[in-house]
Amino acid sequence: MIKFISETEPKNTHILLRVDFNVSLNGDYTIADDTRIRQSLPTIKLLLQNHNKLILISHLGRPKGRDPKLSLAKVTMQLATYLPGFEVTLLSDFLTDRSLIAKQTENQVLMLENIRFYDGEKNNDAQFTRDLASLADSYVDDAFGVCHREDASVVGIPRLLPSFGGLLLKKEITAMDALLNNPIHPYIAILAGAKISTKLPLIHRLLPLVDHLLLGGGLANTMLLAKGIQIGKSIAESELLDDAKSILAEAGQKIILPIDAIVGKATDDPTPENKEIEAIQPSDMILDIGNKTRILYADQIAKVKTVIWNGPLGYFENPLYRQGSKAICQAITDTPDIVSVIGGGETLAAIAGSGQLEKITHISTGGGAMLEYLEKGTLPGIQALESSFSQ
Ligand code: 3PG
Ligand code: MG
Repeated sequence: MIKFISETEPKNTHILLRVDFNVSLNGDYTIADDTRIRQSLPTIKLLLQNHNKLILISHLGRPKGRDPKLSLAKVTMQLATYLPGFEVTLLSDFLTDRSLIAKQTENQVLMLENIRFYDGEKNNDAQFTRDLASLADSYVDDAFGVCHREDASVVGIPRLLPSFGGLLLKKEITAMDALLNNPIHPYIAILAGAKISTKLPLIHRLLPLVDHLLLGGGLANTMLLAKGIQIGKSIAESELLDDAKSILAEAGQKIILPIDAIVGKATDDPTPENKEIEAIQPSDMILDIGNKTRILYADQIAKVKTVIWNGPLGYFENPLYRQGSKAICQAITDTPDIVSVIGGGETLAAIAGSGQLEKITHISTGGGAMLEYLEKGTLPGIQALESSFSQ
């Protein structure tokens, strides 16, 4: 059992709080979307209300050493805008200067610099973990998005300090467990994105649970290819055709594939055409689901009570090819009384600006973490909390 933070505990203590502030960045490294910061505010505010002194830990990107472009300075400033009355300060190197931690007051929130600037984080190094744990008296994990990583600040610290789960972690686990344990039927999953390889185990896991599985993106292309349909220059993983064939055989009528597509000659083709799947030519590239498929998928969605969606249906990097994903989002939000769970940074990027997101039951802050949780029913970071010595 995880002990989650509450109105009553922890109180009056010094806390290391692991958050996932790995926000999406613009080309110039400014913050593109601060959802992940906002999603952890309830945890931060509750802990502050309870007179705890907070030291936040997060990573940003995948830096090689100390890369100033991936400093948490901008993230710290952004967090400060949500915590009026608190002084929010970035510590550039907690290993060499702990003075601010020693004299921290309740009105100060400290944030360690990008924890991946230290090799010990990814190596889950024992000494580095002890250095981190020595900064505080308790640990709170609110970083669902990184719970699939066996990093020092995720799985190491809970072995050394009394540990709690944060409110966001609880919300994520509750939403995912509902999908795995007692979903209301009819229940569909929509899986798309570039690769089938990253989603094969999840497809196997979900097939027995769902009534239908709607596919899009490169993942659907691989399935079409496995059925002997020509997909021209479209992306697919031809080395996985045998897996795709066995899934199709296992799934029977459960898997629904695109019947038409938006095709272009390249990913930047400004004048794509809508073609039936059977009419795709060797020079064509599938870039999005077509109009008939949008209607077919929307009709399916309109009939269900539960939907889970991960992965954009088209080549979302080009805004021209976000229409399929937007149509799916619209179909979900148009359906009354539907429980909807959406996750993955790319999926959210594909539907950004649709203005419908508040109607989604749960938007997961996890991409890889969400997929792995659904597949395995747990994650290393969650197991570490469960076996924390305080339990
Ligand atoms: C994410 O964005 O998926 C998480 O923050 C984990 O980041 P990672 O994939 O670089 O470990
Ligand atoms: Mg990732």
